[in-house]
Amino acid sequence: MEVEIRVNGNTIIEDIRPDLLLIDFLRQHGCFSVKRGCETSNCGCCTVHLDGKPVLSCGILAVRCDRHEVVTLEGVREEAREFGGFIADEGGEQCGYCSPGLIMATLAMMREIPDPDDDEIKEYLANNLCRCSGYESQMRGIRKYIAWKKSQRKSNNTVRMPEQAGSAAKPTVRMPEQAGSAAKPMVRMPEQAGSTGAASKMTAVSAVSSAEGDGV
Ligand code: FES
Ligand code: FES
Repeated sequence: MEVEIRVNGNTIIEDIRPDLLLIDFLRQHGCFSVKRGCETSNCGCCTVHLDGKPVLSCGILAVRCDRHEVVTLEGVREEAREFGGFIADEGGEQCGYCSPGLIMATLAMMREIPDPDDDEIKEYLANNLCRCSGYESQMRGIRKYIAWKKSQRKSNNTVRMPEQAGSAAKPTVRMPEQAGSAAKPMVRMPEQAGSTGAASKMTAVSAVSSAEGDGV
């Protein structure tokens, strides 16, 4: 059956078997971030976005995605790197196998609920299992990421250009370098992560790169 599926911005037109799972379709097209954990829709390792919503790609047929848009971690590298840095800094990434699924689910959550509380986080991510971290470190990383996103939004909102500011007040334009520590991303990029130990170093390895290319 011929399908046309948009994957990470590229349109793929292909004749596929009607029983081909989305996870297999994606991995056949080089999206190795999409991990196979349980294959019973229970672990969340295979989470991707389908038209912006998180879905378990082991539980959906590729033909169901005909003329739809699928995004994997390879399609959101920058955001994945940012968020993965917070998780690694809290020691929440150990073997890293669950990270791509956790990242995709968290990014979807942040779009739906920009400022979730702990209960909302737990409910949203209840289907993303991790056998290593015990979840507390992941929760700390998620909370810090949310706080950082909030401070970013705040600092973006305080930038008012003169022509938008009207007559009421002086424009309070704050350039990034003047905005103080709240506006500064606390994200460690993988190549900067060296000083705080093994967990940080794994950021690059598993959250993004493992995902990209190990083919596991
Ligand atoms: S492999 Fe899809 S939910 Fe576990
Ligand atoms: S399963 Fe190992 S870090 Fe989550």
